Amino acid sequence: MKVTKAEIVISAVSKAQYPKTNIKEIALAGRSNVGKSSFINRVIGRKNLVRTSSKPGKTRTLNFYTINDLFYFVDVPGYGYAQVSKSERAKWGQMMEEYFETREQLQLVILIVDIRHSPTSEDIQMVDYVTYLDIPLLIIATKLDKISKNKVSQHVRQIKQSFGKNNNVPIIPFSAKTSENKDLVWREIKKYI
Ligand code: GTP
Ligand code: MG
Repeated sequence: MKVTKAEIVISAVSKAQYPKTNIKEIALAGRSNVGKSSFINRVIGRKNLVRTSSKPGKTRTLNFYTINDLFYFVDVPGYGYAQVSKSERAKWGQMMEEYFETREQLQLVILIVDIRHSPTSEDIQMVDYVTYLDIPLLIIATKLDKISKNKVSQHVRQIKQSFGKNNNVPIIPFSAKTSENKDLVWREIKKYI
């Protein structure tokens, strides 16, 4: 898809602040610093629309980006960031639950994992949670540029296996550095917008 318009609409921390429109939404989820914001930038072809960082914990709010006035990408703060206080973590949990459990516009959750590593227990919890809520899920195994080509299918298989009973979720290997498989990503996204 050719993206002609991509803008931040709001950074929200609670429901009252969500956009009052009915256009569809696709949310990004995943471990802190895994590459969620970079994924959005690369897929829409804007280098720096979404702020990224080599330090974890960059995204702290639910950030709604309108794409061609057709749908929103919702960039969600990552989990598993150690430098967070207990009370902040509880606030994060509430913010996430409120969004995932009540937002009717939410069509798809894209879970970003690192292709080099086995998913963490929090990744597995996230897959179980989204599946339990009956929200469609797509897994992106990012940082594909960091492993050699002949290891890709082995890594994808290992990631799939770690999700146990939910191992039928589609997984696309992807690189925000090289754009590899961007067309496959759009093909999946188009089914939901
Ligand atoms: P938080 O907002 O902190 O939760 O992080 P995030 O998941 O949004 O990660 P972000 O996109 O900020 O990326 C984190 C780091 O990983 C940055 O240094 C990126 O440049 C790097 N990165 C992201 N995707 C890729 C990729 O596909 N390949 C490589 N080589 N680096 C990547
Ligand atoms: Mg981010």
